[in-house]
Amino acid sequence: MENKRAQWGSKLGFILAAAGSAIGLGNIWKFPGKAFEGGGGAFLLMYLLIVPLLGMPVMLSELSVGRASQSNVVDAFKKLGHKGYSWVGWMGWTVAFIITCYYSHVGGWVLRYVASYVVEPRRVYGDPLGYFYGMLGYDPAADATFMPWTVILFAFLFLAICAVVIIKGVEGGIEKFNKVGMPALFVILVILFVRAATLPGAGEGIRYMLSLDWGKVTPQTFLIALSQAFYSLSLGMSIMVTYGSYLPKEENIGKNTFLVCTMDTLVAVLAGFIVVPAVFATLGPDGVGKGGGFAFVSLAGVFEHMPGGAFFGFLFYLLLLFAALTSTVSLIEGIVAFLTERKGWRRTPTTIVTCAILFLIGCLYTCSQAAFPLKGVWFDFANGVTFPPLCDAMEFLTDRIMIPLCALGTCFFVGWVWKPESVVAEVERCGVKFRLVRTYSFLIRFVAPAAIVAILLVSLLTGTTLS
Ligand code: PHE
Repeated sequence: MENKRAQWGSKLGFILAAAGSAIGLGNIWKFPGKAFEGGGGAFLLMYLLIVPLLGMPVMLSELSVGRASQSNVVDAFKKLGHKGYSWVGWMGWTVAFIITCYYSHVGGWVLRYVASYVVEPRRVYGDPLGYFYGMLGYDPAADATFMPWTVILFAFLFLAICAVVIIKGVEGGIEKFNKVGMPALFVILVILFVRAATLPGAGEGIRYMLSLDWGKVTPQTFLIALSQAFYSLSLGMSIMVTYGSYLPKEENIGKNTFLVCTMDTLVAVLAGFIVVPAVFATLGPDGVGKGGGFAFVSLAGVFEHMPGGAFFGFLFYLLLLFAALTSTVSLIEGIVAFLTERKGWRRTPTTIVTCAILFLIGCLYTCSQAAFPLKGVWFDFANGVTFPPLCDAMEFLTDRIMIPLCALGTCFFVGWVWKPESVVAEVERCGVKFRLVRTYSFLIRFVAPAAIVAILLVSLLTGTTLS
């Protein structure tokens, strides 16, 4: 019983779980900040081209590898007869691990904000930036730092919830929750969009998001848009392979890929059109130095100025919390699935120990935000060896190097070794005809690898400009 391979309970179950994995903090927390820094409309346009041309083919490939192999990500390549590609699986597994360390802590921040909007919305409104920093262990008024115990406790709680869900089995809880939570998230986003768009001063932000100011676009911007797309679609790590392996044979993976990518992109774009205009309206274009604070800081101005704002604030962070939970659960599921299958360990203790380790490493991430000057190491040819804050180094390493490498491995494997025909066969298994065979083969063999190599080169040659 313990180690039996699960399957999704219903047709909708997979779509919602995959969308649940994809739609997460990346859409609402990361995307608006990057769109803002990347020149607004120009970034948006690039992103909208990247998703169908690069994101969809890679997602389709990962799902096919998973379903054909019926295996966890590390063993998938071996099961398909190509042991030499197991490194791709290892890389994916490791990325999932590093990302979960910080992702779960940001989930803790979100949980903290859920509580804040219940107990002390006025304090958030009074000084949104100060409140955010205060949560992370920095007091701007006194220029003093301290140990952010409260938020660490919230991160602990967040991971505890994830552990319970995973131990109980993903299908029942997660599937059921997603059926309500995902549509609800969408409705709330639409309401917030209307409020943000009608704030005085928001027009400038909307114009910015629609403007094609290519002057702000550098090779870096393309790199950021591409890695953001992979991150947001949960590609380049174990997730879609693992989720694909739980798919029944009669499921149409082509259609599912399209639906998941579309939903994910819709949510990201909507979030961009909420947060960026809200920043312009409440803090001015230079209001927030760092993208990460967007979803936490700038939205306070929106909630303050709407009737029932504290309630909507609460609701918003609650839904963001669920979005973060479904993503974190998918990440931990990928890690645990491998450990239980490969090592034969039992699910419950494996989940608990994994979550404990993730929590401890994540503490370093949270503390390096503001409380302590913990540093990571980074190398690029433009600046040589540098020591950015640990939290940034963790994100750079995964988003800019490891995810692209893993995605490159997948493209190469599927395009040249396992062959696109195998993916076509996998898609057509449910009785449909795959009509875009040539386009798909071309994209997965040439276009996607070239774009990913470009990311890696730009990453290494020019360094990162995001602070
Ligand atoms: N795609 C998720 C997001 O946008 C993050 C994530 C990455 C989740 C990788 C699972 C795996 O927030």
